[in-house]
Amino acid sequence: MRPEIRFLLGDRPVRLAGLSPTLTVLAWLREQARLAGTKEGCAEGDCGACTVVLGEPQGGPGSGGMRYRAVNACLLFMPALDGRQLLTVEHLRGADGALHPVQQAMVEHHGSQCGFCTPGFVMALFALYQGGGGVTRAAAAEALAGNLCRCTGYRPILDAAVASCAAPAEDRFTAAAGDTAAALRALDDGASLVLDAPGQRCFVPASLDELAALRLEHPGAVLLAGGTDLGLRVTKRHEVLETVISLEKVAALREVVWQGDTVRLGAGLTYAEALPTLAGLHPEFAALVRRIGAGQVRERGTLGGNLGNASPIGDTPPALLALGARLVLRRGGEQRELPLEQFFLGYRQTALAPGEFIEAILVPRPAPDAVVRIFKVAKRFDQDISTCCGAFQLRIVDGVVRQARLAWGGMAAVPCRSPNAEAALLGQPWGEAAVRAAMAALVDDLRPLSDFRGSAAYRLKLAQNLLLKLWLGEAA
Ligand SMILES: Cc1cc2nc3c(=O)[nH]c(=O)nc-3n(C[C@H](O)[C@H](O)[C@H](O)COP(=O)(O)OP(=O)(O)OC[C@H]3O[C@@H](n4cnc5c(N)ncnc54)[C@H](O)[C@@H]3O)c2cc1C
Ligand code: FES
Ligand code: FES
Repeated sequence: MRPEIRFLLGDRPVRLAGLSPTLTVLAWLREQARLAGTKEGCAEGDCGACTVVLGEPQGGPGSGGMRYRAVNACLLFMPALDGRQLLTVEHLRGADGALHPVQQAMVEHHGSQCGFCTPGFVMALFALYQGGGGVTRAAAAEALAGNLCRCTGYRPILDAAVASCAAPAEDRFTAAAGDTAAALRALDDGASLVLDAPGQRCFVPASLDELAALRLEHPGAVLLAGGTDLGLRVTKRHEVLETVISLEKVAALREVVWQGDTVRLGAGLTYAEALPTLAGLHPEFAALVRRIGAGQVRERGTLGGNLGNASPIGDTPPALLALGARLVLRRGGEQRELPLEQFFLGYRQTALAPGEFIEAILVPRPAPDAVVRIFKVAKRFDQDISTCCGAFQLRIVDGVVRQARLAWGGMAAVPCRSPNAEAALLGQPWGEAAVRAAMAALVDDLRPLSDFRGSAAYRLKLAQNLLLKLWLGEAA
């Protein structure tokens, strides 16, 4: 096992050992690399001031391409850099001092005032620029939803985005893409890592079998996927995670395999990676995923992490419950399947046995005539956690409800279905009377929390009205 991480900082190879495996890239950049262009605003993934770009070779050796993704450095731990290129605002200016096209556009369109948010916007724009051109205003708004600016009112920044990202990328990074990919391949020997620091140890296995063996050997270790939840335990609660097992290098956890009409999604797939498949399963699912956090969070957050954290307000659990998903759990050499309903045992408690982890999620494709609707209710469209999420799948045959799966987030200590409301619909003519009966039955199904997002009474009324909205949408 290799005891150091290797990455490119700009085009300079870096090898580091002995760092805390939960040191954030933001802290390393500012305090050790002395690159202070990347800013800390919130340290919890909300503001985008810390946005940096990660580059990875795209396609096989010889394809010569690079893929660039904007991520939040405040929630990114150093081991995630291994085998990648890290770009910050300091790397964009050319050797002759010329600004990068996205920086130049920000100047020309007056996209910066106090400047605190500007490096983060510039890096999010850089990733957008590298995405291939043809960027519309709507696409720019979606790509920049994870960056906050208190000064400009956003219009000038969106103007800069559309102006600079309209044409296909052509800059010194695209010109050097082949060399950069080759340099990364030379750095990355495909080895597993074990990173030691005083009081901390981090394993980064490179295969599923190795992960399973390590998990069994260290059942008390913390599993680290994208770190968009775990990162907060370090940056906000200042916890020291003593033993960490990172899923970063297990390629098998990022596979998508169709088995007949069921898709097997590796638990390590990020939202950005899973989006095309989820869109193919049902457009409602894709619309939901586009509302999870913002681009930087979706580039790191994983499906497995959204289930493994067992949050009552995670967004994919209700959607997966409505679609009838099952989990593939792995412990050592053994696998078992579990309906998702049986996975959540209590507030942030799961059915995972010691040494077990989520390997994959099996999701059946809804029947062509199924009614599928997913409603996320939050105070803001982007970058906001659900107050309530309702996900519904119905089969209506000859006007009669033959199947009903009504699933909820934010309505109990765990994501859950509502058996009484489902029973009120089953076998009934699909109409307002049955829907009103189901709405009434929700009182027996749901035990909503009261918190700053909404009181229990508000949430219950909301859930009832989401059923009414389902009916009104289908009746229209
Ligand atoms: C700014 C911001 C906005 C967010 N917005 C949303 C939102 O709109 N909706 C939403 O649902 N969530 C949201 N989140 C929460 C978070 O992004 C998601 O829950 C995400 O899916 C977590 O995945 P991760 O890979 O980052 O998990 P991590 O942080 O790496 O891990 C989370 C937990 O899951 C466990 N875990 C991870 N993988 C596995 C596995 N394979 N098997 C067993 N356990 C595992 C970890 O041990 C840990 O306990 C947001 C977070 C931030 C910072
Ligand atoms: S500092 Fe705000 S998102 Fe990282
Ligand atoms: S320019 Fe001041 S916060 Fe954006």
